[in-house]
Amino acid sequence: MSNYHIKHLEEYYQVYRKSVRAPENFWEEVAEEHFLWQKKWDNVLSWDFSKPEVKWFEGAQLNITENCIDRHLATRGDKTAILFEPNDPKDDAEHITYNQLHQRVNQFANVLKDQGIKKGDRVCVYLPMIPELAIAVLACARIGAIHSVVFAGFSATALSTRINDSDCKMVITSDGSYRGAKTIDLKGIVDEALKECACVETVLVAKRIHSDIDMKSGRDKWLQPLLDTASTDCKAELMNAEDPLFILYTSGSTGQPKGMVHTTAGYMVYTAYSFKNAFQYKEDDVYWCTADIGWITGHSYIVYGPLANGATTIMFEGVPSYPDFGRFWEIVEKHKVNQFYTAPTAIRALAKQGLELVEKYDLSTLKVLGSVGEPINEEAWHWYNDNVGKKKSPIVDTWWQTETGGIMITPIPFVTPTKPTYATLPFIGIQPALMDENGKELKGNQVDGRLCIKFPWPSMARTIWGNHQRYKDTYFSAYENKYFTGDGALRDEVGYYRITGRVDDVIIVSGHNLGTAPIEDAINEHPAVAESAIVGFPHDVKGNALYGYVILKDVGETRVHDNLRKEINQIITEHIGPIAKLDKIQFTQGLPKTRSGKIMRRILRKIAHKDTSNLGDTSTLLNPEVVQDIMDNAL
Ligand code: PRX
Repeated sequence: MSNYHIKHLEEYYQVYRKSVRAPENFWEEVAEEHFLWQKKWDNVLSWDFSKPEVKWFEGAQLNITENCIDRHLATRGDKTAILFEPNDPKDDAEHITYNQLHQRVNQFANVLKDQGIKKGDRVCVYLPMIPELAIAVLACARIGAIHSVVFAGFSATALSTRINDSDCKMVITSDGSYRGAKTIDLKGIVDEALKECACVETVLVAKRIHSDIDMKSGRDKWLQPLLDTASTDCKAELMNAEDPLFILYTSGSTGQPKGMVHTTAGYMVYTAYSFKNAFQYKEDDVYWCTADIGWITGHSYIVYGPLANGATTIMFEGVPSYPDFGRFWEIVEKHKVNQFYTAPTAIRALAKQGLELVEKYDLSTLKVLGSVGEPINEEAWHWYNDNVGKKKSPIVDTWWQTETGGIMITPIPFVTPTKPTYATLPFIGIQPALMDENGKELKGNQVDGRLCIKFPWPSMARTIWGNHQRYKDTYFSAYENKYFTGDGALRDEVGYYRITGRVDDVIIVSGHNLGTAPIEDAINEHPAVAESAIVGFPHDVKGNALYGYVILKDVGETRVHDNLRKEINQIITEHIGPIAKLDKIQFTQGLPKTRSGKIMRRILRKIAHKDTSNLGDTSTLLNPEVVQDIMDNAL
């Protein structure tokens, strides 16, 4: 028997050792015992990080939806699979059982087929957090279409870039979405985006807000009538282990977003196994991850990981502040939530509201608390631990990435003793390494370096869609034979890891990855702007906020500056989305540059952090005089 469910620390160490000494044997056992295969693999793993090429369970055939749905019907048909909690607390929650999920996914899959979608086609899903989102994702997987979910907070420009990059044939959206007291015209955003996308033939539109929208004839179709007449039977497409399951875009430090490609078998095995252990999920638990399915957290730990374990997973449409900041706790009480997984930025926002709203609700069902997306600061950790978990629910600070597909470093609750701000120990099968500036691995404990992974794990992304060279350059070129995460980390005296943050030009704002280059490109589109540079600075709720240094073509009068600030944020909203708006914009006459013309962000970062006591050597700059000027006018 494989150790599918780890229950104490000694067992963790024993399984961990086994998983790194003989990874193939370990993952083969897990795969063999806990999943449904139409054909077993010929080879567990082949890999070469220099190409890079990684293949898990080659030769196997399966369908992930048979593992997430069909397999459970005999024993869990009437159990709730997806528990939908709508934006408005006055509306009823919806319990979708495994039987119902099976029917609805099959109907949706048949609609996709009727609309000409075939195995390997790309389908863009641009939906709010309503059941159709999870069902659309699973319907794609049912027929072997590759889903590309785009977070419904992204702008038309960001959406069209993503649609075009992976040549999507179809977009699935809704007539609009609710966000607290507001409604958002999603279909209008899709229409705008599609002006730039020749590849899209069909748009399926789910009804959510019942607004009057334009339907382009021949292209746009209401989803419900098509579902109503579709059969509830749909044979699952036979997928090869390494067939792509989905593409999910993440920001890079330069240019275009990166379409990370995840494949079928390894992703399934790892997300299922890590879900079970990182949350200690037990059969009748109710699990809630507050992320959006537009991000990897939602893919792996709202949809695939929980459903592969036959779990009950909550999908929440709303926001933590609506109708008031007690909403999360109200939902925990109402649905008797056992595992609760959220982001530090939400914890900090809720902590600011005081204790009344937390104490008003019965949170006694909570067993495990999770954190993800950015480093959790000590204060937020203690607030979460003391007031939400009442010091009895361990906090699992889970470190991972879109690229890793699943949780990589995390405590196992009730197994690994937690330590505030530490993601603690590598998960089973994960072999981290810390590297120094010269590319040497730092051995032993109490070291601080750049975080790499030195051995493949089943859910790692296999490539960047359409650009394998960029995949290699970004992740496998910094250190020989290692996957480079882009994060810094330290290892303490007992071998616990603490993630210290990004070491590249990605800034994490409210848990969202933002590349500086696309934001700068957007700002530079403003006719008054000559050049710009973005850095992050600490923010008490968002973790980091964005600080922009902008050179205007014409210095102009200060009284127009406030208008310009608004216009710059407007351009950013149009190009990327409101999440990338700048908190501070400083107009400056120059940016510190090296002799080769590179902006010295290190100096700009220090100024934004108000930490100018030691700016380092500025004498090598092309224009050292601008530094003082920027400091004098810092915001
Ligand atoms: O910097 C790390 C940070 O989020 C980055 C990955 O972002 P994304 O691909 O959007 O995936 C987020 C959800 C998995 C990482 O490179 N990050 C994620 N989790 C943590 C974290 N930083 C510190 N602690 C974490 N627990």
